[in-house]
Amino acid sequence: MKIINVVGARPNFMKMAPIIEAMNAYPSEIEHLLVHTGQHYDEKMSQSFFNDLGMPKPDIDLGVGSGSHAEQTGRIMIEFEEICIREQPDLVIVVGDVNSTMACTITAKKLNIKVAHIEAGLRSRDMTMPEEINRLCTDVLCDYLFTTDQYANENLLAEGIPEEKIVFVGNVMIDTLFKHKEIAGQLNLLDALGLEPQGYAALTLHRPSNVDDKVVLQEIMEALTEISQELTIVFPIHPRTLKMIEVFELEHYVQGDKNNGKIKVIEPLGYLDFLHLNMNSRMVLTDSGGLQEETTALGIPCITLRHNTERPITCDEGSNVIVGNKKETIVEAARNILQGQSRVSHVPEKWDGNAAVRIVEWLILQGN
Ligand code: UD1
Repeated sequence: MKIINVVGARPNFMKMAPIIEAMNAYPSEIEHLLVHTGQHYDEKMSQSFFNDLGMPKPDIDLGVGSGSHAEQTGRIMIEFEEICIREQPDLVIVVGDVNSTMACTITAKKLNIKVAHIEAGLRSRDMTMPEEINRLCTDVLCDYLFTTDQYANENLLAEGIPEEKIVFVGNVMIDTLFKHKEIAGQLNLLDALGLEPQGYAALTLHRPSNVDDKVVLQEIMEALTEISQELTIVFPIHPRTLKMIEVFELEHYVQGDKNNGKIKVIEPLGYLDFLHLNMNSRMVLTDSGGLQEETTALGIPCITLRHNTERPITCDEGSNVIVGNKKETIVEAARNILQGQSRVSHVPEKWDGNAAVRIVEWLILQGN
């Protein structure tokens, strides 16, 4: 079986790493190539993850870079089509919900190549999210849909996806988390930042709905300023967010000399450093999808600055609360946690470190 594994953006790398590792155990059954679309390209958004996760260098880098949605998606499709025609894979594997995921799915299917989607069936029901469009387009086309929980199975069935295409395997991102937890725990990033374990909140923010609108971003910054009076906030900043803070002239919120160092803005962190920051934090504030799951697996209280989530299991079974992006609700949620009212978190079914092995074993059975 010849397989092309596709990655493109930062949240893809930790999902693909365990798949590649599991495939390497079957060299006579599976020949695999890694294609990086180049959607993310900065060292700290891409290469450092390859280093931290011990991933092989991509066999092919499409180097598409940034652009509008149509530009980026179109460029990926044009470049990936050539690769598919040349390599003639039996299967393409895509992960997550970024533009690369959808672009490569459409391209491969139009060449009648089978496609498998890992992390299928997640739905926010929010069609203003580019990721929701990517998820819907990807899932409707894919041949094999590997899911992380029962909600995802129900979503796919409700959309008329045949049951035999859906395989509940668990969460590959949590495979990577559990594998690296111990080594990340031994780093000493906190000393370098002058922080104590449990003595800070970790923050990530990059959703267009939060950072591309000045009024919304300013309100979030006001909330963070208030929280930071009680708990230091560490903010590894995404390039999109940094750009928008500059465009909207909101730098004063994040400059250490103006906020007494209470909001510490640092460069995007690699996988291991961020895991270290996350697992030692008092709480996480985020608009990321994956981080809602990682905090649930670690039992770290998570406040999600969005109006919805495609990952409701992190609220029902995990440590996540959805608070939107209004100042009062964000501050209240943080105070609740500081007063000890955080949710008791359970690790969801099959988030056990073996999802990638399940996927690869299943694929091999299909190939026989
Ligand atoms: C993308 C994904 C999002 C994911 C996020 C994780 C889509 C639609 N969005 O959003 O689902 O949660 O990645 O980070 O696929 N930039 C750099 N260097 C880089 C990459 C981007 O400076 O290596 C800057 C560019 O100015 C670019 C902007 O960030 O225009 C946005 O990048 P893009 O890949 O379009 O979307 P993200 O916001 O990163």
